[in-house]
Amino acid sequence: VENVGILAMELYFPSQYVDQTELEKFDEVSTGKYTVGLGQLKMGICSDREDINSICMTALHRLIEKNHINLHDIGRLEVGTETIIDKSKSVKTYLMTLFAEKGATDIEGIDTTNACYGGTAALFNAVNWVESSSWDGRKAIVVAGDIAVYSKGPARPTGGAGAVAMLIGPGAPLVLDCGVRASYMTHAYDFYKPDLSSEFPLVDGKLSIKCYLSALDNCYNLYCKKMRRIEPDFKGLLSLDGMLFHCPYSKLVQKSLARVCFNDFLNASPEQREEQFPGLSKFSSYKLEDTYFDREVEKAFMTYSQTLFDEKTKSSLYIAKNLGNMYTASLYGGLASYLISKSPEQLIGKKFGLFSYGSGLASTMYSINICNDMSVGSKLAKLLNSLNETVSLLDERQCVEPSKFSDIMDNRTMNYHTAPYQPSGSIDVLFPGTYYLVDIDELRRRFYARK
Ligand code: ACO
Repeated sequence: VENVGILAMELYFPSQYVDQTELEKFDEVSTGKYTVGLGQLKMGICSDREDINSICMTALHRLIEKNHINLHDIGRLEVGTETIIDKSKSVKTYLMTLFAEKGATDIEGIDTTNACYGGTAALFNAVNWVESSSWDGRKAIVVAGDIAVYSKGPARPTGGAGAVAMLIGPGAPLVLDCGVRASYMTHAYDFYKPDLSSEFPLVDGKLSIKCYLSALDNCYNLYCKKMRRIEPDFKGLLSLDGMLFHCPYSKLVQKSLARVCFNDFLNASPEQREEQFPGLSKFSSYKLEDTYFDREVEKAFMTYSQTLFDEKTKSSLYIAKNLGNMYTASLYGGLASYLISKSPEQLIGKKFGLFSYGSGLASTMYSINICNDMSVGSKLAKLLNSLNETVSLLDERQCVEPSKFSDIMDNRTMNYHTAPYQPSGSIDVLFPGTYYLVDIDELRRRFYARK
């Protein structure tokens, strides 16, 4: 099989958001902390009407409907999430209701979990299956989604919610490069969810940033090394048309691109340094591991990389800025944002890097090529149209006062384990086609309806 990758893609985000400027006032932090400091404008929020099953189902159903997918043509369904509502039963099994209705039950795959990395792991599983001897000729679907919520405090404005669904198979317009995926996995307590009675993670904010950046250093250098085995002239960032990152908040992504440049700088020969990085020679003896929070290095390389950022990364942040962190779906929201900022003609033949990070920690850098074969041009145009339509719904959302958001969060916290439970959140406010929770019965079984 050739050109295995993403054939079609859809997205779901909730119909309500909190404005980050208003949240700054409500939280009594200094003006600009969330909007400038973190680079976030709006944060998507869910009431008790939505949970991980419903948001994944909404994204999946949208993908199936908009692409007229025959359910019997799907042989694998994978879910990546870190929003756990059951220690045994997977979200995938709930998604099967849609398939089982039509008698389509011969479908492999279950859930994959490690913080924000599960979506990428699910994508790799699906691609690997299509490329393997187990493949039976059908396509795969990957759903990644999360409801990202934090307890009151500095992490709360870095929440968000949403899900992405992707159709995987051969002959795709977005093709994953083979043999160059570069991973960095190790043990860290930067962000984790050991308290099963709470929806919130324990976070060491500073450590999580350090872990993210060190994972990036490792993945980027290894990815370049693997690329050079195939293309000896590969120049890292300069050979990539786009560079996309998992996005906990937009500012970290801009810092990450600066970090990639700092890596290129350290890897360059003294002559190259003079030529490519004028005025930065004083950082020549600096070391990656000493500079995660070095203000001088950060500032110098943020400035250096500004044009590269505008060119290769900025457009990938549109959904992230307006929705917040979707955890496992975050990188794929970045992919959607990047794609819709361009026309099919601008995209054909382009290559871009993607960095996926999940705390704890698991991370990979890989790359996608937009297939040069014009026969996929119409698939690409369709993918872009469909995404454009969906992303424009960001402007149709309803703004919720921070105090009401705070009440919603208190309600979620209070009822995280209540059973039986009747959700009270508005159904009227939901976008058409949204799945919502109707009831949790005394045996904690969940029942849903679709608007
Ligand atoms: N105007 C402009 N900028 C401001 C203002 C202001 N009024 N006030 C603060 N800032 C800047 C700060 O200088 C800082 O930017 P800098 O790091 O470039 O200097 C930024 O805003 C954030 O301020 P901090 O004081 O550093 O924020 P705090 O420590 O309170 O929280 C954090 C930030 C750690 C990211 C927190 O939101 C968090 O824990 N989030 C969850 C964890 C996370 O997302 N980690 C990222 C990787 S792991 C993952 O994906 C979950």
